[in-house]
Amino acid sequence: MNKWDTEEAIRRWDMHAENFTSKYTEEGDRSREVLLNPALQQCMGTLADKKVLDAGCGEGYLSRKMAKAGALVEAVDYSTEMLRLARERTPPALGITYHHGNLERLDLFKDQSFDLIVSNMVIQDLAHYEQAIAEMQRLLVPEGRFIFSILHPCFLTPQSGWVKDETGKKLYWKVDQYFNEGPLEQAIPYDQAEKFLYFHRTLGSYVQTVIEAGLLLEGMIEPKPSAEMLKKYPHFREDLNVSHFLIFNTKRQS
Ligand SMILES: C[S@@+](CC[C@H](N)C(=O)[O-])C[C@H]1O[C@@H](n2cnc3c(N)ncnc32)[C@H](O)[C@@H]1O
Repeated sequence: MNKWDTEEAIRRWDMHAENFTSKYTEEGDRSREVLLNPALQQCMGTLADKKVLDAGCGEGYLSRKMAKAGALVEAVDYSTEMLRLARERTPPALGITYHHGNLERLDLFKDQSFDLIVSNMVIQDLAHYEQAIAEMQRLLVPEGRFIFSILHPCFLTPQSGWVKDETGKKLYWKVDQYFNEGPLEQAIPYDQAEKFLYFHRTLGSYVQTVIEAGLLLEGMIEPKPSAEMLKKYPHFREDLNVSHFLIFNTKRQS
């Protein structure tokens, strides 16, 4: 078996990039449309003329959304396949520059290059997330904002999941081995032998890392489906029982 580290996580992103994003709309996938995008937008505020980095941009839907809202967007990802898709799907007029780079060490950018950094569902993929969070602090101007979303570390733990009765009806969500930090395989892609990797850490580890990087934690959001979204996609009612995502809204102190 390969060592489960950042390189292996990226090998799998390269392998599944096309399939994983084949149903993306301009809002990304359904979870992004219903849960993540509204919460990220709430944290980002006005984007016009802000210098923004999309850190771990994937196929670039969020970069495009932010550019359409008036931001000057640069984007970085470590998967060459994701970057190929991002470049293919992005009209040149949006002016987005895509870079190849590892968030754990972004020498390609100078100190204090960005007003805002957004990292959507990436930080949990990194073996060295402390280094990446310190890099984001380095790249922000004083008072600049770093917003990142992750799988909710309190509910997505090793051995977590729905417990069902004999008819398959979901009874409750089980959490186990919360303090067991380290690499894990996700459940997706369901039909592939080699699944996406991520690294489980406790909520306390994330908060401590943010503080040690010199970032001020201004808010945390556990996104819930709005009434409007529930009307559109009623099966998201299930997400009123357990929170799958957590968003950190942080600011570089001057
Ligand atoms: C779940 S996808 C999210 C992509 C995009 N932010 C979105 O929301 O659609 C995770 C992304 O993180 C990228 N990634 C993982 N590890 C990375 C690293 N060390 N440096 C840069 N990008 C990384 C992967 O290549 C993949 O594109």
